Amino acid sequence: MTAEKPRRTIIAIGSGKGGVGKSTVSANVAVALARMGRKVGLVDADIYGPSQPRIMGNHDKPELGEDKKIVPVETFGVRMLSIGQLIDPGTAVAWRGPMTGSALGNLMDGDWGDTEMLVVDLPPGTGDVQMTLVQKWKPAGAVIVSTPQDLSLIDATRAIDLFRKLHVPILGFVENMAGYACPHCGEVSDPFGSGGAEAAAKVMGIPFLGRVPLTLSIRRASDEGVPPAAGEGADADAFRSIAVRLIEEVNRSGS
Ligand SMILES: Nc1ncnc2c1ncn2[C@@H]1O[C@H](COP(=O)(O)OP(=O)(O)OP(=O)(O)O)[C@@H](O)[C@H]1O
Ligand SMILES: [Mg+2]
Repeated sequence: MTAEKPRRTIIAIGSGKGGVGKSTVSANVAVALARMGRKVGLVDADIYGPSQPRIMGNHDKPELGEDKKIVPVETFGVRMLSIGQLIDPGTAVAWRGPMTGSALGNLMDGDWGDTEMLVVDLPPGTGDVQMTLVQKWKPAGAVIVSTPQDLSLIDATRAIDLFRKLHVPILGFVENMAGYACPHCGEVSDPFGSGGAEAAAKVMGIPFLGRVPLTLSIRRASDEGVPPAAGEGADADAFRSIAVRLIEEVNRSGS
């Protein structure tokens, strides 16, 4: 008989399309959850294009603990594991299915200790990593990130469809890059439209967790490795309120 694993809430952050801000949302929601007192882990499951070491500003190499499990590094109150910590930066990863699964396993089954919630930043789309994660680690739910424009929303629908087919509850939709606040005059414009994800969530009957504006400060912060959720102000507030809604939905879905 195998020992019972500690019960841990796994939250998958996905999208249909690439570049919509999954990694940014994953990192900042994880930081916001940690600031709310949760013991949070962040898994960068984007095996092919890991970005969490950069976003979270930590390039330390994790060590192997007892029983050969990788010990997450801690940054901004969040425990983190990424394949980016294990390979040299800039190295291309060309793994096939089974290797992808074992790489993911090293991260998911790391030495997470008493971590209560694991936020998993997925690669774009609906491929091997998503399937393996769902089948082997059974997430409590998935959060779908989309930009407001139609094309991104159509792709998001595909991701929702996949998770639903695999019986993973959809915890909600996050609209990212909604409304651009000009850093000079403060005028808000909508390069990608706005409100599309909220409307789509309503039609699909899934919760809307909130929106994150398109700001220069978020982009800069990510490049500099200081998640805005670790600071104060409008950007941090946006991520905090998404984290609060996420916890509500996790509790509601009984996970
Ligand atoms: N709200 C925002 N405001 C400004 N820039 C943003 C915002 N969200 C994300 N970005 C920027 O957009 C780029 C893509 O974001 P991110 O890497 O989080 O997307 P992703 O969905 O994880 O991409 P991929 O599919 O490649 O994994 C990054 O440069 C990031 O800093
Ligand atoms: Mg990403």
